[in-house]
Amino acid sequence: MTNKNQHQLLSKIATGNGHGENSPYFDGWKAYDSDPFHYTKNPHGVIQMGLAENQLCFNLVQDWILDNPKASICTVEGVDEFKDIAIFQDYHGLPEFRNAVAKFMEKVRGNRVTFDPDRIVMSGGATGAHETIAFCLADPGEAFLVPVPYYPGFDRDLRWRTGVQLLPVTCESSNNFKVTRKALEAAYEKAQKENITVKGLLITNPSNPLGTILDRETLRSVVSFINEKNIHLVCDEIYAATVFSQPAFVSISEIITEDNIECNTDLIHIVYSLSKDMGFPGFRVGIVYSYNDDVVNCARKMSSFGLVSSQTQHLISAMLSDDVFVERFLAESSTRLAMRHKVFTRGLAQVGISCLKSNAGLFVWMDLHRLLKEQTFDEEMDLWQVIIHKVKLNVSPGSSFHCAEPGWFRVCIANMDDHTMEVALTRIRSFVMQNKELVVVPTKKKCWQDHNLRLSFSARRFDDFMMSPHSPIPQSPLVQART
Ligand SMILES: Cc1ncc(COP(=O)(O)O)c(C=O)c1O
Repeated sequence: MTNKNQHQLLSKIATGNGHGENSPYFDGWKAYDSDPFHYTKNPHGVIQMGLAENQLCFNLVQDWILDNPKASICTVEGVDEFKDIAIFQDYHGLPEFRNAVAKFMEKVRGNRVTFDPDRIVMSGGATGAHETIAFCLADPGEAFLVPVPYYPGFDRDLRWRTGVQLLPVTCESSNNFKVTRKALEAAYEKAQKENITVKGLLITNPSNPLGTILDRETLRSVVSFINEKNIHLVCDEIYAATVFSQPAFVSISEIITEDNIECNTDLIHIVYSLSKDMGFPGFRVGIVYSYNDDVVNCARKMSSFGLVSSQTQHLISAMLSDDVFVERFLAESSTRLAMRHKVFTRGLAQVGISCLKSNAGLFVWMDLHRLLKEQTFDEEMDLWQVIIHKVKLNVSPGSSFHCAEPGWFRVCIANMDDHTMEVALTRIRSFVMQNKELVVVPTKKKCWQDHNLRLSFSARRFDDFMMSPHSPIPQSPLVQART
Protein backbone atom coordinates (compact mmCIF):
# COMPACT_ATOMS: atom_id res chain seq x y z
CA MET A 1 0.00 0.00 0.00
CA THR A 2 1.40 3.43 -0.94
CA ASN A 3 1.80 6.06 1.71
CA LYS A 4 -0.77 8.78 1.16
CA ASN A 5 -1.34 11.66 3.48
CA GLN A 6 -4.82 12.91 4.25
CA HIS A 7 -4.66 15.51 1.47
CA GLN A 8 -3.82 12.95 -1.17
CA LEU A 9 -6.60 10.65 -0.02
CA LEU A 10 -9.30 13.26 -0.37
CA SER A 11 -10.40 15.73 -3.01
CA LYS A 12 -9.27 19.34 -3.23
CA ILE A 13 -12.75 20.43 -2.20
CA ALA A 14 -12.65 18.21 0.88
CA THR A 15 -9.24 19.38 1.98
CA GLY A 16 -9.41 23.01 0.86
CA ASN A 17 -10.81 25.97 2.73
CA GLY A 18 -13.22 27.06 0.00
CA HIS A 19 -16.19 26.91 2.29
CA GLY A 20 -14.52 29.38 4.59
CA GLU A 21 -15.81 27.87 7.81
CA ASN A 22 -12.57 28.12 9.77
CA SER A 23 -12.57 31.86 9.92
CA PRO A 24 -12.12 33.98 13.04
CA TYR A 25 -15.40 35.54 12.03
CA PHE A 26 -17.03 32.77 13.96
CA ASP A 27 -15.83 34.31 17.17
CA GLY A 28 -19.13 36.15 17.12
CA TRP A 29 -21.13 32.99 16.69
CA LYS A 30 -19.10 31.19 19.31
CA ALA A 31 -19.55 34.09 21.72
CA TYR A 32 -23.30 33.86 21.19
CA ASP A 33 -23.51 30.07 21.30
CA SER A 34 -21.50 29.82 24.51
CA ASP A 35 -23.41 32.61 26.25
CA PRO A 36 -26.82 33.18 24.63
CA PHE A 37 -28.98 35.96 26.02
CA HIS A 38 -32.18 35.04 27.81
CA TYR A 39 -34.02 37.73 29.72
CA THR A 40 -34.58 35.68 32.84
CA LYS A 41 -32.06 32.84 32.62
CA ASN A 42 -29.10 34.75 31.17
CA PRO A 43 -29.81 38.49 31.08
CA HIS A 44 -26.14 39.38 30.55
CA GLY A 45 -25.62 36.99 27.67
CA VAL A 46 -24.82 37.84 24.06
CA ILE A 47 -27.75 38.98 21.90
CA GLN A 48 -27.81 37.45 18.45
CA MET A 49 -28.04 40.26 15.90
CA GLY A 50 -26.21 38.46 13.14
CA LEU A 51 -29.12 36.37 11.90
CA ALA A 52 -31.26 37.71 9.05
CA GLU A 53 -34.38 35.90 10.17
CA ASN A 54 -37.95 37.10 9.97
CA GLN A 55 -39.62 36.02 13.18
CA LEU A 56 -42.14 38.81 13.60
CA CYS A 57 -45.23 37.03 12.23
CA PHE A 58 -44.98 33.49 13.47
CA ASN A 59 -48.21 33.78 15.43
CA LEU A 60 -50.07 34.21 12.12
CA VAL A 61 -48.47 31.11 10.68
CA GLN A 62 -49.20 29.10 13.80
CA ASP A 63 -52.84 30.13 13.69
CA TRP A 64 -53.05 29.11 10.04
CA ILE A 65 -51.57 25.69 10.79
CA LEU A 66 -54.08 25.11 13.58
CA ASP A 67 -56.92 26.18 11.31
CA ASN A 68 -55.74 23.95 8.45
CA PRO A 69 -54.82 20.57 9.93
CA LYS A 70 -55.40 18.84 6.57
CA ALA A 71 -52.37 20.61 5.12
CA SER A 72 -50.11 18.68 7.50
CA ILE A 73 -50.15 15.04 6.45
CA CYS A 74 -49.26 13.78 9.91
CA THR A 75 -52.63 14.77 11.38
CA VAL A 76 -55.93 12.95 11.66
CA GLU A 77 -57.34 15.27 8.99
CA GLY A 78 -54.40 14.93 6.61
CA VAL A 79 -53.31 11.33 7.02
CA ASP A 80 -55.25 10.07 3.99
CA GLU A 81 -52.81 11.93 1.77
CA PHE A 82 -49.76 10.68 3.60
CA LYS A 83 -48.95 7.81 1.24
CA ASP A 84 -49.21 9.77 -2.01
CA ILE A 85 -47.09 12.58 -0.67
CA ALA A 86 -44.53 10.28 0.92
CA ILE A 87 -43.86 8.41 -2.33
CA PHE A 88 -43.78 11.51 -4.57
CA GLN A 89 -40.28 12.08 -5.94
CA ASP A 90 -40.65 13.84 -9.30
CA TYR A 91 -38.08 16.58 -9.73
CA HIS A 92 -40.63 18.80 -11.45
CA GLY A 93 -42.28 19.22 -8.07
CA LEU A 94 -45.95 18.95 -7.16
CA PRO A 95 -47.95 20.93 -9.74
CA GLU A 96 -49.92 22.63 -6.99
CA PHE A 97 -46.65 23.69 -5.36
CA ARG A 98 -45.33 25.33 -8.53
CA ASN A 99 -48.67 27.04 -9.13
CA ALA A 100 -48.84 28.34 -5.57
CA VAL A 101 -45.25 29.61 -5.61
CA ALA A 102 -45.75 31.35 -8.98
CA LYS A 103 -48.89 33.02 -7.65
CA PHE A 104 -47.15 34.04 -4.45
CA MET A 105 -44.24 35.56 -6.38
CA GLU A 106 -46.76 37.56 -8.41
CA LYS A 107 -48.55 38.76 -5.30
CA VAL A 108 -45.31 39.87 -3.67
CA ARG A 109 -44.65 41.94 -6.82
CA GLY A 110 -48.04 43.63 -6.60
CA ASN A 111 -49.55 41.40 -9.34
CA ARG A 112 -47.82 43.59 -11.93
CA VAL A 113 -46.10 40.57 -13.50
CA THR A 114 -46.92 36.95 -14.16
CA PHE A 115 -44.75 33.91 -13.54
CA ASP A 116 -45.05 30.69 -15.50
CA PRO A 117 -45.29 27.71 -13.10
CA ASP A 118 -43.42 25.62 -15.68
CA ARG A 119 -40.36 27.78 -15.15
CA ILE A 120 -40.36 27.30 -11.38
CA VAL A 121 -37.43 25.04 -10.49
CA MET A 122 -36.87 23.87 -6.94
CA SER A 123 -33.65 24.01 -4.98
CA GLY A 124 -32.46 23.71 -1.40
CA GLY A 125 -33.09 27.32 -0.43
CA ALA A 126 -31.66 30.27 -2.33
CA THR A 127 -28.29 28.78 -1.37
CA GLY A 128 -28.92 25.83 -3.66
CA ALA A 129 -30.50 28.07 -6.29
CA HIS A 130 -27.36 30.20 -6.55
CA GLU A 131 -25.12 27.21 -6.93
CA THR A 132 -27.40 25.72 -9.58
CA ILE A 133 -27.37 28.98 -11.50
CA ALA A 134 -23.58 29.20 -11.26
CA PHE A 135 -23.26 25.62 -12.56
CA CYS A 136 -25.61 26.41 -15.45
CA LEU A 137 -24.01 29.69 -16.51
CA ALA A 138 -20.28 29.49 -15.90
CA ASP A 139 -17.31 27.15 -16.03
CA PRO A 140 -14.54 27.02 -13.43
CA GLY A 141 -12.40 30.15 -13.55
CA GLU A 142 -15.13 32.26 -15.15
CA ALA A 143 -16.62 35.06 -13.13
CA PHE A 144 -19.67 36.99 -11.96
CA LEU A 145 -19.52 40.65 -11.07
CA VAL A 146 -21.14 41.41 -7.71
CA PRO A 147 -21.74 44.89 -6.25
CA VAL A 148 -20.25 45.25 -2.78
CA PRO A 149 -21.25 45.10 -0.01
CA TYR A 150 -22.83 41.69 -0.68
CA TYR A 151 -24.18 38.74 1.30
CA PRO A 152 -21.09 36.76 2.39
CA GLY A 153 -22.77 33.42 1.68
CA PHE A 154 -22.35 34.11 -2.04
CA ASP A 155 -18.68 33.20 -1.67
CA ARG A 156 -19.75 29.74 -0.62
CA ASP A 157 -22.86 29.35 -2.75
CA LEU A 158 -21.55 30.48 -6.13
CA ARG A 159 -17.85 29.72 -5.81
CA TRP A 160 -17.00 26.83 -3.55
CA ARG A 161 -18.02 23.75 -5.50
CA THR A 162 -18.31 25.36 -8.94
CA GLY A 163 -14.86 26.97 -9.15
CA VAL A 164 -16.49 30.20 -10.36
CA GLN A 165 -15.03 33.55 -9.25
CA LEU A 166 -16.81 36.59 -7.83
CA LEU A 167 -15.43 40.00 -8.73
CA PRO A 168 -16.45 43.05 -6.70
CA VAL A 169 -18.20 46.06 -8.18
CA THR A 170 -17.23 48.87 -5.85
CA CYS A 171 -20.16 50.84 -4.47
CA GLU A 172 -19.60 53.74 -2.08
CA SER A 173 -21.33 55.41 0.83
CA SER A 174 -21.01 58.82 -0.88
CA ASN A 175 -23.97 57.93 -3.11
CA ASN A 176 -25.65 55.49 -0.71
CA PHE A 177 -23.94 52.47 -2.27
CA LYS A 178 -25.75 52.91 -5.58
CA VAL A 179 -24.87 50.49 -8.37
CA THR A 180 -23.66 52.86 -11.09
CA ARG A 181 -22.87 52.20 -14.70
CA LYS A 182 -19.39 53.61 -14.08
CA ALA A 183 -18.70 51.09 -11.31
CA LEU A 184 -19.98 48.23 -13.45
CA GLU A 185 -17.79 49.27 -16.37
CA ALA A 186 -14.73 49.61 -14.11
CA ALA A 187 -15.19 46.09 -12.71
CA TYR A 188 -15.77 44.65 -16.17
CA GLU A 189 -12.70 46.36 -17.61
CA LYS A 190 -10.55 45.21 -14.71
CA ALA A 191 -11.62 41.61 -15.36
CA GLN A 192 -10.80 41.97 -19.03
CA LYS A 193 -7.34 43.29 -18.24
CA GLU A 194 -6.80 40.26 -16.01
CA ASN A 195 -8.05 37.95 -18.76
CA ILE A 196 -10.99 36.76 -16.69
CA THR A 197 -14.13 35.86 -18.61
CA VAL A 198 -17.12 37.57 -17.05
CA LYS A 199 -20.26 35.48 -17.50
CA GLY A 200 -22.71 37.48 -15.50
CA LEU A 201 -23.70 40.11 -12.99
CA LEU A 202 -25.33 39.14 -9.69
CA ILE A 203 -27.49 41.72 -7.95
CA THR A 204 -29.50 41.47 -4.75
CA ASN A 205 -32.70 43.46 -4.69
CA PRO A 206 -33.63 44.43 -1.98
CA SER A 207 -30.05 44.39 -0.81
CA ASN A 208 -28.57 42.36 1.98
CA PRO A 209 -26.87 44.04 3.89
CA LEU A 210 -28.04 47.54 2.87
CA GLY A 211 -31.81 47.12 3.20
CA THR A 212 -32.25 49.37 0.17
CA ILE A 213 -33.98 48.64 -3.12
CA LEU A 214 -32.69 49.18 -6.63
CA ASP A 215 -34.76 51.88 -8.30
CA ARG A 216 -36.26 51.54 -11.77
CA GLU A 217 -33.54 53.66 -13.40
CA THR A 218 -30.75 51.59 -11.89
CA LEU A 219 -32.44 48.36 -12.97
CA ARG A 220 -32.82 49.68 -16.51
CA SER A 221 -29.17 50.65 -16.64
CA VAL A 222 -28.19 47.22 -15.30
CA VAL A 223 -30.30 45.55 -18.01
CA SER A 224 -28.72 47.63 -20.75
CA PHE A 225 -25.24 46.93 -19.35
CA ILE A 226 -25.65 43.16 -19.37
CA ASN A 227 -27.23 43.22 -22.82
CA GLU A 228 -24.39 45.29 -24.25
CA LYS A 229 -21.82 42.96 -22.77
CA ASN A 230 -23.94 39.92 -23.58
CA ILE A 231 -23.59 38.49 -20.08
CA HIS A 232 -26.19 37.05 -17.71
CA LEU A 233 -28.07 38.88 -15.02
CA VAL A 234 -28.91 36.95 -11.86
CA CYS A 235 -31.30 38.79 -9.54
CA ASP A 236 -31.58 37.59 -5.98
CA GLU A 237 -35.03 38.82 -4.92
CA ILE A 238 -35.37 36.84 -1.72
CA TYR A 239 -36.15 39.98 0.33
CA ALA A 240 -38.91 41.14 -2.06
CA ALA A 241 -41.68 41.09 0.54
CA THR A 242 -39.62 42.69 3.29
CA VAL A 243 -40.10 46.16 1.78
CA PHE A 244 -41.98 48.06 4.46
CA SER A 245 -42.28 51.59 3.11
CA GLN A 246 -41.99 53.62 -0.07
CA PRO A 247 -40.46 53.47 -2.62
CA ALA A 248 -42.07 50.20 -3.65
CA PHE A 249 -40.10 47.17 -4.71
CA VAL A 250 -39.50 46.82 -8.46
CA SER A 251 -38.67 43.35 -9.69
CA ILE A 252 -36.43 42.70 -12.67
CA SER A 253 -39.41 40.80 -14.09
CA GLU A 254 -41.22 44.15 -14.45
CA ILE A 255 -38.32 45.92 -16.09
CA ILE A 256 -37.85 43.34 -18.84
CA THR A 257 -41.49 43.65 -19.85
CA GLU A 258 -41.33 47.44 -20.24
CA ASP A 259 -42.03 48.61 -23.79
CA ASN A 260 -38.96 50.75 -24.17
CA ILE A 261 -36.49 48.18 -22.89
CA GLU A 262 -34.47 46.04 -25.24
CA CYS A 263 -33.52 42.86 -23.51
CA ASN A 264 -32.51 39.38 -24.45
CA THR A 265 -34.55 37.57 -21.81
CA ASP A 266 -32.40 34.45 -22.22
CA LEU A 267 -29.94 36.35 -20.06
CA ILE A 268 -32.30 36.93 -17.12
CA HIS A 269 -32.61 34.66 -14.06
CA ILE A 270 -34.29 35.21 -10.70
CA VAL A 271 -33.33 33.51 -7.45
CA TYR A 272 -36.05 33.33 -4.84
CA SER A 273 -36.81 31.53 -1.60
CA LEU A 274 -39.25 31.54 1.29
CA SER A 275 -36.49 31.98 3.86
CA LYS A 276 -36.96 35.73 4.31
CA ASP A 277 -40.37 36.74 2.97
CA MET A 278 -42.19 34.01 4.89
CA GLY A 279 -39.50 33.46 7.52
CA PHE A 280 -39.03 29.74 6.71
CA PRO A 281 -35.29 29.21 6.24
CA GLY A 282 -35.60 25.75 7.76
CA PHE A 283 -37.95 24.56 5.03
CA ARG A 284 -35.26 25.07 2.39
CA VAL A 285 -37.70 26.26 -0.26
CA GLY A 286 -35.54 27.81 -2.94
CA ILE A 287 -36.49 28.71 -6.48
CA VAL A 288 -34.62 29.26 -9.74
CA TYR A 289 -36.84 31.18 -12.14
CA SER A 290 -35.13 31.54 -15.49
CA TYR A 291 -36.41 33.05 -18.72
CA ASN A 292 -33.94 30.83 -20.58
CA ASP A 293 -35.39 27.42 -21.58
CA ASP A 294 -32.02 25.67 -21.56
CA VAL A 295 -31.28 26.93 -18.07
CA VAL A 296 -34.71 25.80 -16.88
CA ASN A 297 -34.10 22.33 -18.30
CA CYS A 298 -30.62 21.98 -16.87
CA ALA A 299 -31.54 23.46 -13.49
CA ARG A 300 -34.50 21.11 -13.24
CA LYS A 301 -32.27 18.10 -13.76
CA MET A 302 -29.85 19.48 -11.18
CA SER A 303 -32.67 19.99 -8.73
CA SER A 304 -32.47 16.27 -7.93
CA PHE A 305 -29.59 17.27 -5.67
CA GLY A 306 -31.65 19.71 -3.65
CA LEU A 307 -35.33 18.91 -3.88
CA VAL A 308 -37.77 20.47 -1.47
CA SER A 309 -39.33 17.58 0.48
CA SER A 310 -42.78 16.69 -0.84
CA GLN A 311 -44.21 17.11 2.64
CA THR A 312 -43.01 20.71 2.66
CA GLN A 313 -44.25 21.26 -0.89
CA HIS A 314 -47.67 19.99 0.16
CA LEU A 315 -47.91 22.23 3.21
CA ILE A 316 -46.56 25.28 1.37
CA SER A 317 -48.91 24.87 -1.58
CA ALA A 318 -51.91 24.83 0.76
CA MET A 319 -50.65 27.82 2.73
CA LEU A 320 -49.69 29.99 -0.24
CA SER A 321 -52.93 29.18 -2.06
CA ASP A 322 -54.89 30.73 0.78
CA ASP A 323 -55.28 34.26 -0.60
CA VAL A 324 -56.79 35.71 2.55
CA PHE A 325 -53.97 34.40 4.68
CA VAL A 326 -51.23 35.48 2.26
CA GLU A 327 -52.58 38.99 1.93
CA ARG A 328 -52.93 39.39 5.66
CA PHE A 329 -49.49 37.93 6.29
CA LEU A 330 -47.76 40.20 3.78
CA ALA A 331 -49.51 43.31 5.07
CA GLU A 332 -48.89 42.49 8.72
CA SER A 333 -45.28 41.50 8.10
CA SER A 334 -44.43 44.82 6.51
CA THR A 335 -46.26 46.74 9.25
CA ARG A 336 -44.30 44.93 11.94
CA LEU A 337 -41.00 45.31 10.09
CA ALA A 338 -41.66 49.03 9.65
CA MET A 339 -42.35 49.42 13.36
CA ARG A 340 -39.26 47.46 14.36
CA HIS A 341 -37.11 49.48 12.00
CA LYS A 342 -38.51 52.77 13.27
CA VAL A 343 -38.06 51.99 16.95
CA PHE A 344 -34.55 50.68 16.45
CA THR A 345 -33.21 53.42 14.19
CA ARG A 346 -34.78 56.14 16.36
CA GLY A 347 -33.23 54.60 19.44
CA LEU A 348 -29.83 54.68 17.77
CA ALA A 349 -30.32 58.22 16.49
CA GLN A 350 -30.98 59.45 20.04
CA VAL A 351 -27.39 58.60 20.92
CA GLY A 352 -25.98 59.90 17.67
CA ILE A 353 -25.69 56.70 15.68
CA SER A 354 -26.97 56.81 12.14
CA CYS A 355 -27.87 54.07 9.70
CA LEU A 356 -28.10 54.04 5.94
CA LYS A 357 -31.63 55.14 4.99
CA SER A 358 -33.43 51.94 4.09
CA ASN A 359 -36.92 50.58 3.53
CA ALA A 360 -36.48 46.81 3.30
CA GLY A 361 -34.71 43.82 4.76
CA LEU A 362 -34.44 42.35 8.20
CA PHE A 363 -31.52 44.51 9.31
CA VAL A 364 -30.03 47.98 9.39
CA TRP A 365 -26.66 49.06 8.01
CA MET A 366 -25.20 50.96 10.94
CA ASP A 367 -22.53 53.59 10.44
CA LEU A 368 -19.86 53.55 13.17
CA HIS A 369 -17.00 54.85 11.10
CA ARG A 370 -16.56 57.81 13.42
CA LEU A 371 -15.76 55.37 16.20
CA LEU A 372 -12.68 54.12 14.39
CA LYS A 373 -9.39 55.71 15.41
CA GLU A 374 -8.22 55.21 11.87
CA GLN A 375 -10.32 54.31 8.87
CA THR A 376 -8.95 50.79 8.52
CA PHE A 377 -10.41 47.32 8.56
CA ASP A 378 -8.12 46.39 11.46
CA GLU A 379 -9.79 49.12 13.50
CA GLU A 380 -13.19 47.85 12.39
CA MET A 381 -12.22 44.39 13.66
CA ASP A 382 -11.13 45.80 16.99
CA LEU A 383 -14.36 47.71 17.43
CA TRP A 384 -16.30 44.61 16.47
CA GLN A 385 -14.51 42.64 19.21
CA VAL A 386 -15.58 45.26 21.73
CA ILE A 387 -19.18 45.10 20.52
CA ILE A 388 -19.26 41.33 20.83
CA HIS A 389 -17.37 40.83 24.06
CA LYS A 390 -18.14 44.02 26.00
CA VAL A 391 -21.45 45.27 24.65
CA LYS A 392 -22.43 41.65 24.06
CA LEU A 393 -24.14 42.01 20.73
CA ASN A 394 -23.28 39.73 17.84
CA VAL A 395 -23.49 42.12 14.90
CA SER A 396 -21.70 41.62 11.57
CA PRO A 397 -18.84 43.87 10.45
CA GLY A 398 -18.90 45.38 6.96
CA SER A 399 -15.69 43.66 5.94
CA SER A 400 -17.49 40.32 5.96
CA PHE A 401 -19.74 41.77 3.25
CA HIS A 402 -16.65 42.91 1.30
CA CYS A 403 -17.64 46.50 1.98
CA ALA A 404 -15.06 48.83 0.46
CA GLU A 405 -15.16 51.25 3.42
CA PRO A 406 -14.51 50.38 7.08
CA GLY A 407 -16.89 51.25 9.88
CA TRP A 408 -20.19 49.75 8.72
CA PHE A 409 -22.00 47.01 10.63
CA ARG A 410 -25.09 45.00 9.75
CA VAL A 411 -27.48 44.67 12.67
CA CYS A 412 -30.37 42.21 12.36
CA ILE A 413 -33.54 43.36 14.05
CA ALA A 414 -36.30 40.90 13.12
CA ASN A 415 -35.02 37.72 14.75
CA MET A 416 -35.95 38.67 18.30
CA ASP A 417 -38.90 39.83 20.38
CA ASP A 418 -39.55 43.44 21.39
CA HIS A 419 -38.05 42.97 24.82
CA THR A 420 -34.75 41.60 23.50
CA MET A 421 -34.56 44.44 21.01
CA GLU A 422 -35.06 46.94 23.84
CA VAL A 423 -32.25 45.32 25.82
CA ALA A 424 -30.00 45.52 22.75
CA LEU A 425 -30.82 49.19 22.29
CA THR A 426 -30.21 49.89 25.98
CA ARG A 427 -26.80 48.23 25.77
CA ILE A 428 -25.76 50.27 22.75
CA ARG A 429 -26.97 53.45 24.38
CA SER A 430 -25.22 52.84 27.66
CA PHE A 431 -22.04 51.95 25.79
CA VAL A 432 -22.29 55.31 24.08
CA MET A 433 -23.06 57.12 27.34
CA GLN A 434 -20.08 55.51 29.07
CA ASN A 435 -17.95 56.90 26.29
CA LYS A 436 -19.90 60.09 25.94
CA GLU A 437 -16.87 62.31 25.88
CA LEU A 438 -16.23 60.70 22.55
CA VAL A 439 -19.49 61.88 21.09
CA VAL A 440 -19.45 65.25 19.43
CA VAL A 441 -22.60 67.14 18.76
CA PRO A 442 -22.14 68.86 15.43
CA THR A 443 -24.31 71.76 14.30
CA LYS A 444 -27.36 69.67 13.51
CA LYS A 445 -26.91 65.95 14.18
CA LYS A 446 -25.05 64.18 16.92
CA CYS A 447 -22.31 61.95 15.72
CA TRP A 448 -19.17 60.22 16.83
CA GLN A 449 -15.88 61.95 17.28
CA ASP A 450 -13.14 60.24 15.34
CA HIS A 451 -10.32 60.53 17.83
CA ASN A 452 -9.48 60.00 21.47
CA LEU A 453 -11.33 56.71 21.62
CA ARG A 454 -10.84 54.86 24.87
CA LEU A 455 -12.03 51.39 24.20
CA SER A 456 -10.55 48.20 25.45
CA PHE A 457 -9.64 46.47 22.23
CA SER A 458 -8.66 42.88 21.98
CA ALA A 459 -5.10 42.38 20.84
CA ARG A 460 -6.26 39.78 18.41
CA ARG A 461 -5.82 40.50 14.73
CA PHE A 462 -7.71 38.88 11.92
CA ASP A 463 -5.92 38.24 8.72
CA ASP A 464 -8.31 35.87 6.99
CA PHE A 465 -11.68 37.44 6.89
CA MET A 466 -13.55 36.41 3.82
CA MET A 467 -16.16 34.35 5.55
CA SER A 468 -19.82 33.77 5.28
CA PRO A 469 -21.60 34.19 8.58
CA HIS A 470 -23.89 31.45 7.47
CA SER A 471 -21.68 28.48 7.87
CA PRO A 472 -21.60 26.15 10.82
CA ILE A 473 -19.22 26.85 13.61
CA PRO A 474 -16.90 23.87 13.92
CA GLN A 475 -18.30 22.45 17.13
CA SER A 476 -21.91 22.93 16.22
CA PRO A 477 -23.11 20.71 13.38
CA LEU A 478 -26.67 21.81 14.02
CA VAL A 479 -25.93 25.36 13.03
CA GLN A 480 -25.88 24.59 9.35
CA ALA A 481 -27.07 27.48 7.31
CA ARG A 482 -27.35 30.59 9.34
CA THR A 483 -28.06 33.73 7.47
C1 LIG B 1 -29.16 37.72 -0.29
C2 LIG B 1 -29.29 36.31 0.18
N1 LIG B 1 -29.34 35.33 -0.72
C3 LIG B 1 -29.45 34.05 -0.34
C4 LIG B 1 -29.53 33.68 0.99
C5 LIG B 1 -29.68 32.24 1.36
O1 LIG B 1 -31.04 31.97 1.62
P1 LIG B 1 -31.63 30.53 1.87
O2 LIG B 1 -31.87 30.39 3.34
O3 LIG B 1 -32.94 30.50 1.13
O4 LIG B 1 -30.68 29.53 1.34
C6 LIG B 1 -29.49 34.69 1.96
C7 LIG B 1 -29.55 34.36 3.39
O5 LIG B 1 -29.31 35.16 4.24
C8 LIG B 1 -29.38 36.03 1.54
O6 LIG B 1 -29.35 37.04 2.42
